[in-house]
Amino acid sequence: MQNIKPVKAKNIYILGIESSCDDTSAAILCNDRILSNVVADQKIHAEYGGVVPELASRAHQQNIVPVVHQALEKANISKDQLSAIAFTRGPGLMGSLLVGTSFAKSLAYGLDIPLIDVNHMQAHILAHFITEEEHVKPPFPFLAMTISGGHTQIVKVANHFEMEVIGETIDDAVGEAYDKSGKVLGLGYPAGPEIDRRAQLGNPKAYQFTKPRVEGLNFSFSGLKTNILRFVQREVKANPNFIEENLNDICASIQYTIIGILMDKLKLAVKQTGIKHIAIGGGVSANSGIRNALKNAEQKQGWTSYIPKFEYTTDNAAMIAIVGYLKYLEKDFSGFDVMASARLKI
Ligand code: KG4
Ligand code: ZN
Repeated sequence: MQNIKPVKAKNIYILGIESSCDDTSAAILCNDRILSNVVADQKIHAEYGGVVPELASRAHQQNIVPVVHQALEKANISKDQLSAIAFTRGPGLMGSLLVGTSFAKSLAYGLDIPLIDVNHMQAHILAHFITEEEHVKPPFPFLAMTISGGHTQIVKVANHFEMEVIGETIDDAVGEAYDKSGKVLGLGYPAGPEIDRRAQLGNPKAYQFTKPRVEGLNFSFSGLKTNILRFVQREVKANPNFIEENLNDICASIQYTIIGILMDKLKLAVKQTGIKHIAIGGGVSANSGIRNALKNAEQKQGWTSYIPKFEYTTDNAAMIAIVGYLKYLEKDFSGFDVMASARLKI
């Protein structure tokens, strides 16, 4: 009998480009596995206590060529092997998005390969579909909570591309609540990781902050920021050393309040949808408080939680590339007239 060799499926190589905020990132995927994921974060914004849009777009322009070059080099492939280029179309800062969009278009045009536009918020969710050892992919349908400096959303995910936002912030994002509270306490930017570190050393019930009353699944964080500011001003008036003497307890109490807000909304979302598979994404998903709260809910509420690897929590191009791969399989390509969109919705 003739020995017929099975035909090996052709590997698909996707270059992902992310430039929506203050990180310039490029990643190479071979099918759904990462070969490289290079992120150049822009230290310059720390001096200003927040992202300065004009400085961000200039830094993207400086970073993009070396970052893409490095991603190809680390992946050990040449640009001629690329199957398609995926880029963040939005949402984000317009000047920053334009740098990635224009670069992706020119390179795809030059190489004569498909261009794929990606929604940054979908990408935070679909980052869970990168194949990694020890990472279990969430089954459909699941609930995704995206929490970062720019976003706070709860999304019902029916399949890779059918998503419905069922709750979102009406003012500040949860990461902003961390960063703005940190500013009041004299901590550096971004303050989330430092508040989280100190929270683990303090008493979460030392001080009480009021939780916002927002109907349904929407969030609000701007009132909490004012509440914390007034509280600190009052205490410092009575004792000028109040912050230094109680910093860990203040951080623990802030974290306790914020995680309480997130968990209350998640519980309501589970009740309303009956879905108990919960995935998180975005910079704040690195937070120890939310990770522990989800682990507890697994035991107490029978939920299953999905937490991304640390490098896929903050903004990165690997998550853009995985969406590129999934869209490539569907032959869902963009025209070269596609425009960046600062307020792109899911
Ligand atoms: O996703 P990301 O890198 O950028 C966007 O904002 O899109 O998220 C950055 C945000 C910042 O607000 C930062 O303070 C917060 O994530 N963050 C944290 C932690 N690590 C980062 N917040 C709380 N706890 C953390 N461990
Ligand atoms: Zn993001």
